[in-house]
Amino acid sequence: MTTETLDIKITKTNHSRLAETDFDNLVFGHTFADHMFVADYADGEWKNFQIVPYGEIGLSPAISALHYGQAFFEGLKAYKHEDGTVSVFRPDKNAARFNKSAQRLCMPDLPEDIFVQSIAALVDVDRDWVPTAENHSLYIRPFMFATDPYLGVVPSKTYKFMVLTGPVGPYFSKPLRVKIETEYTRAAEGGFGYAKAAGNYAGAMLPTRRAVEQGFDQMIWTDAKEHLYAEEMGAANVMFVLDGTLVTPSTRDTILDGVTRNTVLAIARDWGMPIEERRVSIAEIIEGAKSGKLTDAFGAGTAATIAPVGSIFYEGEEYHLSDPASREFSTKLFKKLNDIRYGRVADEHGWNYTV
Ligand code: PLP
Ligand code: COI
Repeated sequence: MTTETLDIKITKTNHSRLAETDFDNLVFGHTFADHMFVADYADGEWKNFQIVPYGEIGLSPAISALHYGQAFFEGLKAYKHEDGTVSVFRPDKNAARFNKSAQRLCMPDLPEDIFVQSIAALVDVDRDWVPTAENHSLYIRPFMFATDPYLGVVPSKTYKFMVLTGPVGPYFSKPLRVKIETEYTRAAEGGFGYAKAAGNYAGAMLPTRRAVEQGFDQMIWTDAKEHLYAEEMGAANVMFVLDGTLVTPSTRDTILDGVTRNTVLAIARDWGMPIEERRVSIAEIIEGAKSGKLTDAFGAGTAATIAPVGSIFYEGEEYHLSDPASREFSTKLFKKLNDIRYGRVADEHGWNYTV
């Protein structure tokens, strides 16, 4: 994938915050490593590749990202192996999805090798920030936003690509109490639910807040037209084991094509497990919960990892699923995923990109 080495100007901090960071009490998204990556797009090309100390940036208050939401992001993770090797998990997949988001939002492509090299260079500079504890990693947040200081509702001509990183632990600490969302909609056909657009997350905040006020941890989004089919779970894809088959909503323009989802499907395929990627009705999930055929249900995402669903609330009833510790598939899956990411078993698919 790599064609040429990127010319990156590196300015290191003279005060590392590493020693004063409490790696035992990390809250997702609150702790940032010492450095960040910045590049500019102008005159039709990407330039000024830099790694600089993490900190504030000056911007015009008129930038289109702030007014019209020309902004999107990615999320991936770096892991430290027992021998000290640091690897980033499947950055090529995020690079490809980055450009899908860019195209949908009328923003410029970023060559995939620039995406991967920027991340590798930044993780290399801050490699001491990659945690060593189990279920801990360095979360990597690449993003792009429009920077033209102009209020016209047209695509910007200038952009910034940036990458932040920060150490993280587990995102969820317990099985999730999940509500089937039948009032609000995350994404509609013809929209941009498949892009990691900032606006998708803004639109999800009110429904999420309502769900939390009602005592739920997450919601399962349903289709915009009828609210009869499962789409995603919060900021993760949703997967079920129904009667021995791994079932998950097929990707479409309302669903983010998750890297974790793709990885889970590949592992299940390796294990010879039957898989169905198709529309998944709420009725069959509830039926499965009642009959006991629904033996596993979880969210799959980079931040969420494999997040077990504890119970599902639908039409005034709460359906309790089995104890996650007793679930054969997701327990074995979670172990396999960690073993690959931390370099404890052979990386047969070539998913680890060594920094
Ligand atoms: N769906 C949404 C809406 C997300 O925000 C995410 C998180 O990135 C996912 C699914 C899972 O995608 P991935 O596994 O690539 O992180
Ligand atoms: C991720 O899993 O990387 C995400 O983007 C979820 C995030 C919105 C916290």
